Amino acid sequence: MPLNPWIALFSFLTIILPLLNPFVAFAVNPQGEALLSWKQSLNGPTEALSNWNPTDETPCGWFGITCNINKEVVELELTYLDLYGTVPTNLTSLVSLTKVALYGTNLTGPIPKQIATLHELNYLDLSFNALTGEIPSEICNLLKLQEIYLNSNQLEGSIPVQIGNLTSLKVLCLDENQLNGEIPNTIGNLKNLQEIITGRNKNLGGIIPREIWNCTELTVLDLDQTRVSGFLPPSVGLLKKLETIVISAALLSGQIPPEIGDCSTLQNIYLSQNSLTGSIPKSIGNLKNLRNLYLWGNSLVGTIPSELGNCKKLTLLDVSWNSLTGNIPQSFGNLSALQKLTLQMNQISGKIPAEFENCKELTQIDLSNNSIAGTIPSEIGNLTKLQQLFLWENKLVGPIPSSISKCQNLQIVSLSYNNLSGEIPENIGNCSSLIWFEVGDNKLTGPIPREIGNLENLSILSLGLNRISGNVPDEIFGCRNLEYLNLHSNLITGNFPVF
Ligand SMILES: *[C@@H]1O[C@H](CO)[C@@H](O)[C@H](O)[C@H]1NC(C)=O
Ligand SMILES: *[C@@H]1O[C@H](CO)[C@@H](O)[C@H](O)[C@H]1NC(C)=O
Ligand SMILES: *[C@@H]1O[C@H](CO)[C@@H](O)[C@H](O)[C@H]1NC(C)=O
Ligand SMILES: *[C@@H]1O[C@H](CO)[C@@H](O)[C@H](O)[C@H]1NC(C)=O
Ligand SMILES: *[C@@H]1O[C@H](CO)[C@@H](O)[C@H](O)[C@H]1NC(C)=O
Ligand SMILES: *[C@@H]1O[C@H](CO)[C@@H](O)[C@H](O)[C@H]1NC(C)=O
Ligand SMILES: *[C@@H]1O[C@H](CO)[C@@H](O)[C@H](O)[C@H]1NC(C)=O
Ligand SMILES: *[C@@H]1O[C@H](CO)[C@@H](O)[C@H](O)[C@H]1NC(C)=O
Ligand SMILES: *[C@@H]1O[C@H](CO)[C@@H](O)[C@H](O)[C@H]1NC(C)=O
Ligand SMILES: *[C@@H]1O[C@H](CO)[C@@H](O)[C@H](O)[C@H]1NC(C)=O
Repeated sequence: MPLNPWIALFSFLTIILPLLNPFVAFAVNPQGEALLSWKQSLNGPTEALSNWNPTDETPCGWFGITCNINKEVVELELTYLDLYGTVPTNLTSLVSLTKVALYGTNLTGPIPKQIATLHELNYLDLSFNALTGEIPSEICNLLKLQEIYLNSNQLEGSIPVQIGNLTSLKVLCLDENQLNGEIPNTIGNLKNLQEIITGRNKNLGGIIPREIWNCTELTVLDLDQTRVSGFLPPSVGLLKKLETIVISAALLSGQIPPEIGDCSTLQNIYLSQNSLTGSIPKSIGNLKNLRNLYLWGNSLVGTIPSELGNCKKLTLLDVSWNSLTGNIPQSFGNLSALQKLTLQMNQISGKIPAEFENCKELTQIDLSNNSIAGTIPSEIGNLTKLQQLFLWENKLVGPIPSSISKCQNLQIVSLSYNNLSGEIPENIGNCSSLIWFEVGDNKLTGPIPREIGNLENLSILSLGLNRISGNVPDEIFGCRNLEYLNLHSNLITGNFPVF
């Protein structure tokens, strides 16, 4: 095909000229130019941006860039790269951006207030960087914003009161910063808000604004490890979509309102380490989806409501370090998904319900330092996934059930400070995962079983203050990992075996 010499020359010039003349090297459009000048400001290795080529007509094919049909940049998304720069400040050419996601990219410096020029922005993620300074209130001019992730930075100052203008907002994620001040009550204007995550800002304080309970779309409320204070009001019950409430290690006081039982979608309640008083509301038993209930380290009184046995999906239950009284409800036998039950450091009495045999998923039971009486039910042997059994400092009597040998995954058995009697079951030697066996200060009799020597991972063996008799068996050398052996105040005779 004959070539038109003019077209050939023109093509030659457009290819060659930019290479020869640096002043026309920027063939790219102004949006590309703005991106390139930001790239030049970065101090990190920019191999990832190697296809950001100035000779391209548009930046639309560049790594991390998405354009719309008009070849305008709508998304800038670079994640987990070592960019070592700042958030772009010259955004005047990039007003078409709807999404900026620059998380985990080692950005420092402030969030520029020029961000307010991005009127189309609906998604902003600058999390997992080292950004400093305050959250610019200008961000609250971006009325299309639906999701904001500024978590895991070093941001200071308070949450801008104008946040209440962002009525499209669904996710506000500001956790793990150095924010202070209070949560603005304008938050109650955000009728579409689904997630408020402002936890792990240790100076964020003040009373939780009552307007927050007007955000009826909320699924996640995370004010964990802050200094927020005040009561949980009955209006908690208005949050019919709430799945997770996390306000532990804060300054909450007052009672847990019974209306929490109206939040029928609740899966996770984490309210540990506050100053909550009153009793655990029975209505929590209405929460059919409840999986995790953490109320430890408060000042709760009263009994553990038997209604909790209705929460069939309950997996982790921790109400330890309170002042709870009464029995462990038999209805717990219906908690077939329960993995962890920790009730230690209360004043719980009564017996260990044999109904536990149905809780086949249990891996950890801690009932230590209560006033639990009666025997250790032999049904304990049905808990074949059990790894940790802490029953120390109670009023337990009777033998250590030999069925315990069926708990092949047991690693820790701690039964000290009770009134257990009888012999240490010889088939304890079948619990081959055992690392820690502590039964001091009881009324155990009989010999140290030879089978203990089968426990090659046993590290702590504490039998002091009992009535154990006979020789220390030679087999004890089978416990090749033994680090701590306490036999004091027993009736042991003979010499300690020599290796
Ligand atoms: C911002 O970028 C535009 C081109 O996109 C440029 O013309 C302008 O000079 C830049 N402004 C600053 C302050 O760098
Ligand atoms: C850079 O960011 C990555 C991912 O967030 C992080 O693992 C790394 O520690 C950071 N490097 C520096 C020097 O901050
Ligand atoms: C934004 O919020 C502030 C404070 O809540 C308010 O005074 C202002 O009128 C709001 N601006 C707009 C445009 O809604
Ligand atoms: C918040 O909810 C209460 C009812 O709990 C209602 O009286 C009040 O008007 C609501 N406020 C807003 C701003 O919607
Ligand atoms: C366990 O649940 C069943 C039905 O779901 C109920 O009939 C029974 O009373 C419950 N057991 C206890 C001990 O609460
Ligand atoms: C057991 O609980 C009591 C209070 O109920 C407390 O005084 C005591 O120190 C606790 N024991 C241990 C070993 O923590
Ligand atoms: C508990 O174990 C015993 C003996 O192995 C068995 O007869 C009983 O059916 C088990 N109970 C449950 C609830 O599985
Ligand atoms: C053990 O029983 C004796 C009486 O036989 C009682 O004085 C003591 O308080 C009991 N100890 C525990 C820890 O229950
Ligand atoms: C458990 O231990 C006893 C006595 O040491 C032994 O006879 C028995 O075979 C063991 N059972 C299993 C299942 O290992
Ligand atoms: C003993 O401990 C080691 C290391 O943790 C583990 O790999 C091994 O399975 C344990 N042995 C038994 C019998 O549990």
